[in-house]
Amino acid sequence: MSDAERKKIDMGYLYQKKAQGEKISWLTAYDYPMALFEDKAGIEMIMPGDSGMMALLGHKNTLSATMEQMLWMTQAVARAVKYAFLIGDMPYMSYQASKEEAIRNAGRFMAEGGVDCVKMEGGVDVADTLAAVVKAGVPVMGHIGMTPQSAAAIGGYRSQGRTEAVARKIIQDARTLQDAGAFSMVVEAVPAKVAGLIVKAVDIPVYGIGAGPLVDGQVLIARDMLGLFELFKPKFVRRYAQMGQAMVDAFRHYKDDVKAGSFPGPDECYNMPEEEFRKLTAGQ
Ligand code: KIV
Repeated sequence: MSDAERKKIDMGYLYQKKAQGEKISWLTAYDYPMALFEDKAGIEMIMPGDSGMMALLGHKNTLSATMEQMLWMTQAVARAVKYAFLIGDMPYMSYQASKEEAIRNAGRFMAEGGVDCVKMEGGVDVADTLAAVVKAGVPVMGHIGMTPQSAAAIGGYRSQGRTEAVARKIIQDARTLQDAGAFSMVVEAVPAKVAGLIVKAVDIPVYGIGAGPLVDGQVLIARDMLGLFELFKPKFVRRYAQMGQAMVDAFRHYKDDVKAGSFPGPDECYNMPEEEFRKLTAGQ
């Protein structure tokens, strides 16, 4: 499809694709160039996630993300995205303390970040807050299963829903978020069969990261799938490129060229007219 034929992706498109059984492609992006390339490739949803705290900024978890950092990242991504559906990722403690704060911060993502919706983590426990934000006019995507912002409370970064009791709770979370007004949700790190039951339990689109193939679309952290983040590799990540290694190779090559004096070459230097140079050096 040519750029002229492409249209900005909206919620109607997401519902239509679900009805047609067509999966949605979603990636994270934390900066302008990454978002530009993803949008150019036709990725349908893009999110400057709080995972950027780890994958981009080297923090140990996502908890340090502030509204200002998230907005700064979101605005850079928004400047690049012409077509994809843009998701604002509400950081830790930007919606947990009170409904008023949640509404104000969700509003900032819409007004200052230029996003199409916000995403917040949590199930039954955040349903009232989510409903208040939806009532204020902001589309909200839920996030259930493994929720990194509450890793300390759920026993770390481990897959969820492997026992009947926890799986039931996650399915209940999904139903409750739908009833609270979420227009979609993402389910993270749960068994594929449980994700399949979640899809059956609700009518809204359910996207997955580490949730198997039965969901309505897939999300990956772009830096994981490009091989740009090597500290750990979750089981569900498929590496589509080895860009980290490609960068190390390029940096080594550059260093070798500098040491050997072969960089810069004649074509990589600015020239000065001979006449000007002669005048400059006359008498020297
Ligand atoms: O922050 C993030 O990148 C996310 C995705 C894992 C959905 O929340």
